[in-house]
Amino acid sequence: MRKAPLVAPSILAADFAALGEEVRAVVAAGADWIHLDVMDGHFVPNISFGPAVIKALRPHTDVCFDTHLMIEPADPYLEAFAQAGANVITVHAEACTHLDRTLQAIRALGCKAGVSLCPSTSEEALGYVMDRVDLILVMTVNPGFGGQVFLESQLPKIRKIRDMIGDRSIHLELDGGVTAQNAKLCSDAGADVLVAGSSVFRGGADSYAANIRAIKEASLT
Ligand code: DX5
Ligand code: ZN
Repeated sequence: MRKAPLVAPSILAADFAALGEEVRAVVAAGADWIHLDVMDGHFVPNISFGPAVIKALRPHTDVCFDTHLMIEPADPYLEAFAQAGANVITVHAEACTHLDRTLQAIRALGCKAGVSLCPSTSEEALGYVMDRVDLILVMTVNPGFGGQVFLESQLPKIRKIRDMIGDRSIHLELDGGVTAQNAKLCSDAGADVLVAGSSVFRGGADSYAANIRAIKEASLT
């Protein structure tokens, strides 16, 4: 039987005034990982939070902190994110001139290394780093904001990356506009981790468990 994808709620859609509580609530509701969207107002047109916030959240849960760096440059900050408690550190191929070196640096810090591709970036950007990555994150919206519409144009790329991964142990994660309505498209294309912000955090804490369950169940239909 096919396994449901992991669900990684993005706290970008949580109540920023109560982040510790929000993280505990969403983990209790069945979140597999916590997705942390770090934005610099330079690589992407929005500013979110940095390592100090991640460090403050770390005592609230043991689940994987899946850290998505939308920052350029990334290299000077990798150590700070590792020390803050990130488990996965994902950088953007578009933001890293020396991507191979950056991925080596992430692993040397004891973290899992991820690469993310914007919608306009080809899977070819991954060709020479497949042995350096633990996770590939395909953006299904243009990065910078939550609550955008899922780009189905990314599905062929996702399928190609699933083929490139073959039997390597690399997660294939999708990020942006994921809902219970498109979760099946995502898992059929080969994703095994789904980031979801608005579709998990909508309706308040009492709805989180049902929201996560709806995504998992829909992906198996
Ligand atoms: C976009 C972020 C996403 C986003 C997901 O730049 O990387 O993680 O917050 O939010 P939704 O699920 O609302 O699209
Ligand atoms: Zn993200």
